[in-house]
Order: sequence, then structure tokens, then C-alpha cells
Amino acid sequence: MVRHFLELRDAGGDAIAAMINDAMDRKEARADWPKGRADADAPLAGRVLAMIFEKNSTRTRVSFDMAIRQLGGSSIVMEAGGMQLGRGESIADTARVLSRMVDAIMIRTDDHSKIDEMAQHATVPVINGLTDRSHPCQIVADLLTIVEQGKPLPGLELAWLGDGNNVLHSILEAAGLMKFNVRIATPPGYEPDRSYVDAARALGARITIGNDAQAAANAADVVVTDTWVSMGQPHAEAKIAAMEPFQVNSALMARARPDACFLHCLPAHIGEEVTADVFESEQSVVFQEAENRIHAQKSVLLWCFGLI
Ligand code: CP
Ligand code: NVA
Repeated sequence: MVRHFLELRDAGGDAIAAMINDAMDRKEARADWPKGRADADAPLAGRVLAMIFEKNSTRTRVSFDMAIRQLGGSSIVMEAGGMQLGRGESIADTARVLSRMVDAIMIRTDDHSKIDEMAQHATVPVINGLTDRSHPCQIVADLLTIVEQGKPLPGLELAWLGDGNNVLHSILEAAGLMKFNVRIATPPGYEPDRSYVDAARALGARITIGNDAQAAANAADVVVTDTWVSMGQPHAEAKIAAMEPFQVNSALMARARPDACFLHCLPAHIGEEVTADVFESEQSVVFQEAENRIHAQKSVLLWCFGLI
């Protein structure tokens, strides 16, 4: 069976816990090394990862490129517009061709059905580097960051403020798998997809959804937000106005636990979903979270190759 990583549930809770542990061990083992030097065991030596981008990226692109290098392998990075994919070659044919040429494929795209189709036709692992529906690789890095803060995942209270988007969907998946609770505050009409909420609840996570930002943040261990306008969405003034009461500012952070940390997948829009004082505060771990994309993506790759 080829191991595709399209959603967190493809790996499951035990594997995600193992990924976090492996990421911590590898991170510690190479502290202060040059960033491009391979890990001592170079477990993916000779392996090539192809990356396809149909949307912009800084962290996903660089973290996967550095991840495969640190594991001893190499990468090919392609913009979909420069591929025949951009001129109408099918996803099925692209998947079959790349499967004969490289060892794994990471794709960032819009419609989630495209990644399902890629996985259906690929005979090498396919990794979801973000779709309109989910962003599982980001959440492995977020969980690693939370654990590094000394916060055990089971029973954790995570507050999500703002848009019920792709990043929140993957947080909800993680909540079910890792047994933590999520309090969501969104404007009416911007709630997450019901299927992610129901799946998390079915696995025992407590998920609350409301329109009161202060209530959601109350005594939270972790406060998380994201851009109010995701890639591919129109910049609608009405949406921005509806989101304003859900801004993460110092008054909101004061409702959370004193030791609460602030996470944001980045890129951030200072003055919109988060204020500068919170973003730059001691509680903000956003750059540790960004660095952790490398360490987490190494774990994802190792899991895909059956090495975790
Ligand atoms: N957080 C994240 O996925 O960043 P990029 O869009 O820069 O890859
Ligand atoms: N929700 C954002 C995440 C960017 C990493 C988007 O999809 O644009």
C-alpha cells in the first residue's frame, strides 16, 4: 500500500505522535549544524521529491526542500503554470508520469478533489501541501510547537478565532486524533465544514462553535488564528468587516491562560487578524512554528516512506 498523506487521518493518532517524537529527536540531534547538512543516518538518500505549486508558498516550499535535503534526498520544484498541467494535461497522466520519475509528490492546489485524483493515479506517495479544504502538514508543525511549549495534547484547550478555513479543518482532525478540545469563534456564516466538526466529536473531542471571541479565548492554552482571506478567495470588504470582532489582540489574549501561546501559520496580516503587540509578544511562537515546518515535514516524508 502506498502511503499518501492527504489528511491527518491517513496517518492516524499513533503515527502522528510518533512523527512529533521523531521530529523532536532529529531537531535536537542537528541543533547548530549547517542547515543543508544531511542528518547522520540520511534515511532518504537517493530519494527525489517533486513539488507542484498551483498557489504561492514560502514556508511549504522551503521547508519541504530543506526536509528532503536533511534526510539525504533531493527535490524538483515546479510551478503548475510552467508544467503541461498548466496547459491542460490531466492530473491522472501527470501522476502516472511523475510516479515513474520521482519517489514522492507534494502538491499545493485549490480544489481538494485534484489531490484525491493525483493519489488515485500515483504509485508513489502524494502529500497535501495545502488545498482549499485542508492543510495537514501545517498542523503536524503546530502540534510539535505546542508539545515543545510543554503542553500535553490530550485535554488541551485550543481557541480558534476568525475564518473557519482549511487550517481549522486540519486542527479539527488533529483534535479528534490527539484528543484535545477546540473552541471556535467565527462570524455567522464562516463556520468550518460540518464533516470535520462531526468527525472530531465522534472521536471524543469537545468542539464548541459560537460567535463570541472572548468566550472562546477564556482560559485557553493555545490561541490560533489565520488570514481572513485565504488564497483564491475574493477580498470581500463585507467579510473583513464581519471578522473584525474576532481579531486576536491583547485584550483577547488576556482572557486566555497566562501561559497561553499564540500560533499563526503565516503569512500574517498585522492589524487584521492579529495586532502587532500580540504577534511580537513573548506568548507568540509563530517563528518557532514556521521553523518547525522543516522538522515536521521530515516526519511526514519518513512516514510516507514507511520509516515512521
Ligand atoms: N503556512 C504556510 O503554509 O506558508 P506558505 O503559504 O508560505 O507555504
Ligand atoms: N488559510 C490560508 C493558509 C495559508 C498558509 C490560505 O489558504 O491561504
